[in-house]
Amino acid sequence: MSTIPAPANTTLTATDAYTAAQAEQDASARHATRSFRIWRGAEGTGEFVEYKQDVVEGMVVLDAVHEIQATQANDLAVRWNCKAGKCGSCSAEINGNPKLMCMTRLSDLDAEKPVTIEPMRAFPHVRDLVTDVSWNYRVKQSIQPFTPRAPDAPDGTWRMQQADVDRVQEFRKCIECFLCQDVCHVLRDHHKQDEFIGPRFLVYAAALEMHPLDTADRVPALRHEHGIGFCNITKCCTKVCPEHITITDNAIIPLKERVVDEFFDPIGKLVKIFSRRKQE
Ligand code: SF4
Ligand code: SF4
Ligand code: FES
Repeated sequence: MSTIPAPANTTLTATDAYTAAQAEQDASARHATRSFRIWRGAEGTGEFVEYKQDVVEGMVVLDAVHEIQATQANDLAVRWNCKAGKCGSCSAEINGNPKLMCMTRLSDLDAEKPVTIEPMRAFPHVRDLVTDVSWNYRVKQSIQPFTPRAPDAPDGTWRMQQADVDRVQEFRKCIECFLCQDVCHVLRDHHKQDEFIGPRFLVYAAALEMHPLDTADRVPALRHEHGIGFCNITKCCTKVCPEHITITDNAIIPLKERVVDEFFDPIGKLVKIFSRRKQE
């Protein structure tokens, strides 16, 4: 039976030494203890509670919150569903910025400072990280729904230009996370919930108004009931949208232009009425 001979020279070469040091450094980067300040409390009252949590490379903020919930704070309330940036449930304010917890990597946040996690401020607080966003669903119901024209062909189908279809596709990416509503100063700071529908629903109204088959006219409501005039195009909503919808440039500004055309440009209004009648 043959035996494997021991290596003649066991001294590490410069390359081996570098690799070992690098591996040790990589291992310590993969495992670290981070500090978290999480808002705890109910119905608008509460305080930040500090937690230390071991984290590993690749974790997102929602992972850390789940670890803390599992090991240190079983009663911590947090809303989430998909953990894939698609359900819009895990919205919160992370280090003061409206973000999805499941799409915010810990490695993108300053490791020297605690990660601050608090509920969205524009909506009534329920408990810990959970807010009551039901106002948004009531707003949606107040917007005139899709009203298609009669079919273009006897088989009940329609004909549309691809460019017209493409124009509204961007708006359909919305996941209703309401981060844009949270950051909008008209709702957040001025509390105009009774007079202004907010950027999410201006996107929704734009998707309907620009739909090539739709025949309804939502422009008077946008001006009078939905408060589009409150928006002063600060673009904060566009900056926080996780779906990168160009809320202000592609939805709000064209809707504002329609309000101007309808209420302050009588010739343009007549042309619009005439072309709509021809379609019907
Ligand atoms: S651009 Fe308008 S809707 Fe968007 S955050 Fe600013 S004020 Fe609100
Ligand atoms: S428009 Fe963007 S930020 Fe606003 S609710 Fe939809 S996905 Fe969220
Ligand atoms: S859990 Fe669904 S978007 Fe974050």
